[in-house]
Amino acid sequence: MARDLYEAARDAMGKCHAPYSKFPVGAAIRADDGRIYAGANIEVIAYPEGWCAETTAISHMVMGGGRRIEEVAVIAEKMDACTPCGGCRQRLAEFAGPDTPIHLCDQNGVIKTVTMGELLPYAFDTEVLK
Ligand code: THU
Repeated sequence: MARDLYEAARDAMGKCHAPYSKFPVGAAIRADDGRIYAGANIEVIAYPEGWCAETTAISHMVMGGGRRIEEVAVIAEKMDACTPCGGCRQRLAEFAGPDTPIHLCDQNGVIKTVTMGELLPYAFDTEVLK
């Protein structure tokens, strides 16, 4: 994975709003338009209303004109190889394929790469609704 995606995730983590969990997370998506879209987790005092770094990054991608996810990097300040939560796996899968690489990072770079299909096997994805 090119270093720019890692650096975008790490820089995004620095912009998190995580005063309740104090668990900063950053995510960066390389999209089909060649651009990188990044995001951080954003928490809310009504705790269930907060959302994850991956979700912020997806929002930026869609609003920026990206349509498909080519690869993702995720970093957490206090945890190596932080994996996306269940809800974010489903959201990422909406724009990714089973072979899309998800790079799990530490403070120095990528330490493990998994695929979307490994993270979300048997994904809910039916043609009936399309
Ligand atoms: N979080 C993310 O942003 N992404 C993940 O992949 C896991 C969890 C956030 C949500 C919450 O703000 C904090 O981490 C603690 O759960």
